[in-house]
Amino acid sequence: MNVIVVKNDQEAAEKAFEILKSGLEQGEINTLGLATGGTPLKLYAEMRNANLDVSNVTTVNLDEYVGLSADNEQSYNYYMNQELFNSVKFKETNLPNGVAQDLEAECERYEKILEENPVDLQVLGLGTNAHIGFNEPGTPFDSKTHVVKLTESTIEANKRYFEKEEDVPTHAISMGIASIMEAKQIVLLAFGEAKAEAVKQMIEGPVTEECPASALQNHPNVTIIVDEAAASQLK
Ligand code: F6R
Repeated sequence: MNVIVVKNDQEAAEKAFEILKSGLEQGEINTLGLATGGTPLKLYAEMRNANLDVSNVTTVNLDEYVGLSADNEQSYNYYMNQELFNSVKFKETNLPNGVAQDLEAECERYEKILEENPVDLQVLGLGTNAHIGFNEPGTPFDSKTHVVKLTESTIEANKRYFEKEEDVPTHAISMGIASIMEAKQIVLLAFGEAKAEAVKQMIEGPVTEECPASALQNHPNVTIIVDEAAASQLK
């Protein structure tokens, strides 16, 4: 794992953007894996401002809430349109469909998209409980795209985006740990004190399904970019 400690989220976004830009310039990125949440917002701002030619690049997102359609402002489909896809024109963009009638079939459809579009660079955030995607502690490392029941701590962490806690969906569709680990290169960003324990466990703790992000210790090409607060518990 290549760990880079930066001053703040802006510096992290610039570093992540450099990695992305150089991969694009070298023609190494046909498929880009994306995340939502607060963490990648400044990276997406860098991308919007950069005039990138990504007309040959397909995107795949990690996850979507079950029960939220693309026109729901809290959905990840909506977020991606607002933050990136309305301004940066990719060849094709993919997210799970949270309102699919048959969720199992939707997971299979999504996994097929991943097989046909192997991810060259995957951007990840990190949950306070060390989840990646919505793979909560205890998720098998061999998991593929699946329906997830969100933990109390994730619902608690995400309720800031919703009017009431009851509005936070209880389930999501997420790429599995094995699906994420198939990416050729991974860049994970994490900021703030609240992520410090998860960052420590991910990098210095044992590789265990109790800490989903610890799986990344077994990946050959991972860059972790953290601010000083998120790095504060590292040795
Ligand atoms: C989002 C995702 C999640 C988030 C994580 C951190 O697509 O897969 O794993 O990256 O929950 O969320 P933020 O960035 O809001 O702190």
